[in-house]
Amino acid sequence: MGNAAVSLQKYVDLEEQIRKLNAIGIALSSERDLGKLLELIATEARAFTNADGCSLYIKDEEKLNFAVAQTESLQKRDGKREPFKSFSLPLTKESIAGYVAVTGEVLNIEDVYTIPANIEYRVNKQFDKNNNYRSKSMLAVPMRDNAGEIIGVLQLINSLDCSDHIIPFNPELESIILSLASQAAVAIRNVKLIEDIKNLFRSLVRYSIKAIDARSPHTAGHSGRVAKYCVRMAHAINEEPEGRLGQIKFSAQEIEELRMAGWLHDIGKIGVRESILEKTNKLTANQIEVISERFEGIKNQVNARFIEKKFEALFENKSVPDSLDIERRQAIAEIDEALNFIKRVNIPGHLKEEDRIHLKKTAEKTYLNSKGEKRTYLNPKEYESLSIIRGNLTPSEYEEMQSHVLQTIGILDKIPFTKELQNIPQYAAGHHEYLDGTGYPRGLKGDEISIQSRIMCIADIYDALSSTDRPYKKALPIEETVNILRNEVKAGKLDGDIVEMFIRRKLYQKTSFQEDED
Ligand SMILES: [Fe+2]
Ligand SMILES: [Fe+2]
Repeated sequence: MGNAAVSLQKYVDLEEQIRKLNAIGIALSSERDLGKLLELIATEARAFTNADGCSLYIKDEEKLNFAVAQTESLQKRDGKREPFKSFSLPLTKESIAGYVAVTGEVLNIEDVYTIPANIEYRVNKQFDKNNNYRSKSMLAVPMRDNAGEIIGVLQLINSLDCSDHIIPFNPELESIILSLASQAAVAIRNVKLIEDIKNLFRSLVRYSIKAIDARSPHTAGHSGRVAKYCVRMAHAINEEPEGRLGQIKFSAQEIEELRMAGWLHDIGKIGVRESILEKTNKLTANQIEVISERFEGIKNQVNARFIEKKFEALFENKSVPDSLDIERRQAIAEIDEALNFIKRVNIPGHLKEEDRIHLKKTAEKTYLNSKGEKRTYLNPKEYESLSIIRGNLTPSEYEEMQSHVLQTIGILDKIPFTKELQNIPQYAAGHHEYLDGTGYPRGLKGDEISIQSRIMCIADIYDALSSTDRPYKKALPIEETVNILRNEVKAGKLDGDIVEMFIRRKLYQKTSFQEDED
């Protein structure tokens, strides 16, 4: 071949290599999963050099972590990949990878078994012994990121010729592999940076929400548990073999999005007053104490009035009739009975009509306060609270409690979520919507409610029913919780397929889903 032909061939080869390197660069920069990225780097580096094996080490402070191992001939021979055992090397010049990481030099070794004794590094023959393998030629290059920092080492083992004989690595490939290792380093750095930011965001969300939930024992830990139940349901749906749910598949990304929506669904409760979040009964303990003191005062007045009457009788008739004392005791007993009645109806739940009438009469009774002004036994606000027919919140308190969804939407709509998390506001917005249109805030119906919002609605109700938020409050037994959920399905509010799957697979119990931790 003439000189011109040789240089033309070199030019063609170089162009081909640049084209390949470019394609690899694009592939590397678009992989977002660190594990897959490392595998891709090893595969591409092997392909470039026709190497049988490749190992990747990633630097972690004072050590090198063994991250990936590929050995094609072993895989072919054993029909499977050798089990990957993670280990780390000290960041010293004694190992080949350590030497490269410390010095930044490229090592191109013809035979790692004949390294002269005066050289600082040694090959570790353990892998060869364990796998009945012979490592011979080796090319180890540092992986430098864009700031020039070495983040790891790429180690290629046994370059093969076209008849699969081991040959030394071509020195001309060194600069290309070095360049590929650099591209890999930048890609690894980027993926780690994205993971760090994601973790930072996750932690920020978790800790802020835990703090918001902890404002009231009623809600402490609620959002984290809702997120957990949501993730369990999504995994379980993915495992459903048939039926309507069998058609639905959530990707890992979609599950992550649902988990975050679970964490964030009640963030709007930050705008609901603690006195409302805290409410257990119709009146708070403080309000009951105020009423008790008022009634003590009323009794004192009654006693004082009867003492006056006694004096009047003594003065006029020189004796006190027995009826006066009977009358006094009766009056005091009536006041005690009124207070006991108030305490008895001060519980959440249904107020009977006869109790409501009696409550009205009691509330309207009057006494004179210390200034001699006429006052009713209960003020209008106290009466309004006690006369709640269902639950324990007055209409205005109920409205404030329900407004948490609007506030959740208001907050989440302002967060610039990434594309993968963009549906969080929509899923969270639907967590109190019922299929029959009786939910809030929008009264959405049927198909207007996403599967994710349906899942969240079930998780939310289940957690509210099952949690023990006070030392003296017992959680409902599971049979009762199950009945309530099924009744909500019958009433047309909850998705029956998901509720039945939740019950059938006992998703309320601890499961083996790995993603369950938090
Ligand atoms: Fe809620
Ligand atoms: Fe909730």
